[in-house]
Amino acid sequence: MQIELWQIHAGTMTTGLIIVIVVALIARFLRGKNWWLRVHKSVASIGTLTVLAGFSVAFYMVTTTSGVHFAYLHSYMGLTSVTLALITTITGYARQRGKLKVNRTLFRRLHISLAVLTASFMTLTIYMGLGLVYG
Ligand code: HEM
Ligand code: HEM
Repeated sequence: MQIELWQIHAGTMTTGLIIVIVVALIARFLRGKNWWLRVHKSVASIGTLTVLAGFSVAFYMVTTTSGVHFAYLHSYMGLTSVTLALITTITGYARQRGKLKVNRTLFRRLHISLAVLTASFMTLTIYMGLGLVYG
């Protein structure tokens, strides 16, 4: 059985979504543990790198097939998901390093809202991706 590029793309992105959900659950429910932030931070960064890898596979796949990038709603939702995952990660680091109290509160709210948005967009994008392949 030959594995196709879209399967690698879909698998990488689904793994990325699972990681995003796991790190959010760790932050929400396991913050009593002294390891939570260390694990949250490093696993979240791995998740974002996984999503970036999935994007590279998608870009390469389109380059080697139709050559027409961003031709579907899925592609735009996907690009938005990748951007959201990146910004969520950046606000996470900003939250941790922010010096001003007001900034820390702002970044916390921003970070949590972005995390929920990232997971929601990724879920919808996966649904649309399945539609592209099986629809
Ligand atoms: C959160 C998950 C996902 C993200 C962020 C994502 C992102 C993207 C992006 C940005 C592109 C456009 C690449 C380009 O035009 O250069 C793309 C293309 C594509 N994706 Fe996804 N994707 C996801 C999940 C999936 C899944 C689960 C499937 C299949 C089951 C899938 C199937 C495809 C296919 C077939 C294309 C190529 C469309 C074309 O020919 O232009 N994607 N994806
Ligand atoms: C895709 C990546 C990430 C997701 C989905 C995510 C998700 C979340 C969620 C849902 C919370 C809030 C938990 C709660 O209180 O209910 C949180 C808190 C936090 N996250 Fe992340 N996170 C990500 C990446 C990061 C990174 C890379 C850092 C880096 C240092 C980070 C640092 C923090 C900190 C410091 C908090 C505690 C905020 C506070 O209570 O003041 N996060 N994260």
